[in-house]
Order: sequence, then structure tokens, then C-alpha cells
Amino acid sequence: MRNILVTGGAGFIGSNYIRYILDKYSDVTVTNLDKLTYAGNPDNLRDIEKNARYRFVKGDICDENIVDGLVKEADVVVNFAAESHVDRSIGKPDDFIRTDVFGAFVLLEAARKHGVRQFIQISTDEVYGSIEDGSFVETDPLMPSSPYSASKAGADRLAFSYFVTYDVPVKITRCSNNFGPYQFPEKLIPLFVTNAMDEQSLPIYGDGKNVRDWIFVDDHCDAIDFIEHNGQNGEVYNIGGGNERMNIEITEIILSELGKPKSLMQYVKDRLGHDRRYSVDCSKLFAMGWQPKHTFENAMQETIKWYVENRWWWEKLKSGEYLDFYKQNYGASA
Ligand code: NAD
Ligand code: DAU
Repeated sequence: MRNILVTGGAGFIGSNYIRYILDKYSDVTVTNLDKLTYAGNPDNLRDIEKNARYRFVKGDICDENIVDGLVKEADVVVNFAAESHVDRSIGKPDDFIRTDVFGAFVLLEAARKHGVRQFIQISTDEVYGSIEDGSFVETDPLMPSSPYSASKAGADRLAFSYFVTYDVPVKITRCSNNFGPYQFPEKLIPLFVTNAMDEQSLPIYGDGKNVRDWIFVDDHCDAIDFIEHNGQNGEVYNIGGGNERMNIEITEIILSELGKPKSLMQYVKDRLGHDRRYSVDCSKLFAMGWQPKHTFENAMQETIKWYVENRWWWEKLKSGEYLDFYKQNYGASA
């Protein structure tokens, strides 16, 4: 049995990754260390919580005692745990620095001490910053522009330094924007789908022409697994879906799929320091033999259908702290 320690596994991508790994391998056990912040949700893993090869531990990656014991037992560490929402990092960066940078440090120290076989740092395409034309390759300089992306860049390079300095077997992934089931409904796609379902306005920042490259979450999970088995230690791998779309295009797709009027589109004040376009060149990963398996159109339909059929999952999340955050920051109904 191979034991994978997944951190942040109660969040969006981490929960999809755990489901993917347990389905794919019968000789793997997964330990999920998650603090259960507002973004961590046990409902994301309800279907597997009784699986004998799965164990949940509530805890903080900044807590050296918990981390030490779990890393000691692990063959592989996959670090998803992070504060992940750019807007929240603009409002209050503190937790981003603590979790995304210091938390990664605590995990890396434990990995060094216990000699794990593999440490995968889940970084992001946002560490490169914005690009007008062309696409970033892995060796391009990092120019992060939000407290979120700067904290992720710190962890990304800290992980690399542990490979260079201490020979910790680190691999770093930089993926583009994910979409799919179980994404917290404050991110663009689940927010707009669920708002549109309830005929509430869709708050589009600025002119809505910012571009993101969208990848279905299963493809991201598949790429991480591929990199674990085929990648080289000390290397960085871009992961993208090859689906660059302006935010207004995404909005129109959602409205059209749900049969809702364009009058729900509401232009609101722009995000501070809003990156115009993200784009990563994935030639390095493609040359190794990996390709995304889902088309954007089908995956978007599947995703929208999932939110339509799983109101029980998102409705309770769209209240309290979540609504207050949006009202304070954007004055738009959420
Ligand atoms: P998410 O916000 O949905 O989930 C984050 C999880 O981390 C939550 O379960 C939360 O409870 C947990 N967590 C937060 N602080 C913690 C701490 N101190 N200790 C333990 N657990 C803690 O995020 P996501 O969208 O699933 O992103 C997961 C990872 O992937 C992040 O590292 C993010 O930077 C990266 N990433 C995300 C995307 C994307 O499009 N969502 C793209 C590329 C990379
Ligand atoms: O690129 C990868 C990154 O993608 C990840 O590292 C982050 O964790 C993840 O949150 C995501 O960051 P973005 O800022 O790109 O995602 P978000 O869904 O917040 O916004 C996507 C775009 O939509 C962005 O241009 C801002 C815009 N937007 C977002 C929201 C929530 C709106 O116009 N209105 C909104 O209400």
C-alpha cells in the first residue's frame, strides 16, 4: 500500500483528486489533512468517507506536531492546502501568507526530516502574472500581482529550494483555472451558475474581457497523477486546458445553457490589480505524453448540470459569511 497525504483535500480540487486516486488505484490509502476553513467542506467527500482506504484528519498544515506525525507515515505528500480566492486575499492577506507560505514550509521541513518519496506542490499559473500575447513557459520569471499569487509564488520557490538544497524530491505544478463539481460558489463559474438559477444578477468585474484558460478538474487531477509517475524531481510543469475564454463568454455560455436572460449580467467595479490574461504553454507536459481528456463544451455542460442537480450542496454555502463578503466588497447580490 502506498500512503498519500493530501492536504486541503476537503476543498474543491483536493476532494476531486482524492476521489480520482481512490477510484484509479486499489493499492493506495489516502490521508486527508484539512483545517476545514470556510472553503473546506466534508460534504465534498460524503460518498467516500466510509471507504476503508480513506482517513480524514482535521488540522492545520501550520501545526508542526500534526504535520510531523502524518508526513512520517506518508510515501507521497500532495499539498493542495491554501487560501485560494484572489478577492479574499485583496481584502485580508494575512491567512494567505500564513497558510500558503508558512504552511508549505512546515510540510517541506517534515518531508526533509522523514525522507518522503515524493512531494508535489500544487502551485498555479497565476504565479507568472498577466500576459498580453503568447504563453508562459516554465522558465519564465514569476511576476505575481495579488497577495494570493505572491504567496503561492513564495511556496513554489520554497519547494524548489528544498529540492536544490536538501534533495527533497519535489515536483511543482502550475495549473490554469479549474471548473467542475464541488467548487465553492464564490468562484466565477459556480457563482454565476447558481446566481443565474435563482435569477440573481451576475457581477462581472470591469469590462468582462479578462481571459482565463479553463480546465476541467478531472483533467487537472489526471495531470497531477501523470506528473507524479512520469515527471522529474526539481521540475515545474505547466498544466492548461487550452480553453482561453473572456469572462463575458463564460457568462453567456452559462446563461444560454440555463435559458436565462442576458439582462442578468451586471457590470460592477473591477477587482484591484485584476490580471488581464493568463496563458501557459504546456508543450513540456504534452511532449511527455499527457493531454486533457475532456472537451470544454461537454465538461461545461456536465458542470452546469451538476450544480442544477445538487442544490442541496451549494444552497447552504451561499449564506452568512459568504454573502457578507460579497455585499461588502462588490455591492452586488450574490
Ligand atoms: P479551495 O479553497 O477550494 O480548497 C482549499 C482547501 O484547503 C480547503 O479545504 C481548506 O479547508 C484547506 N485549508 C486552508 N487552509 C488550511 C490550513 N492552514 N491547513 C489545512 N487545510 C487548509 O481551493 P482549490 O480551488 O481546491 O485549490 C486547491 C489548490 O490548488 C490551491 O493550492 C490552489 O492554489 C491551487 N490551484 C487552484 C486552481 C483553481 O482554479 N481553483 C488552479 C491552479 C491551482
Ligand atoms: O488561474 C488559476 C487560479 O484560478 C487559481 O490559482 C485560484 O485559486 C482560482 O481561484 C482562480 O483564480 P481567478 O481569480 O482567476 O478565479 P475567479 O473564479 O475568482 O475569477 C475568474 C475571473 O472572473 C477573474 O477574471 C475575475 C472574474 N470574476 C470573478 C468573480 C468571482 C468576475 O468577473 N466576477 C465575479 O464575481
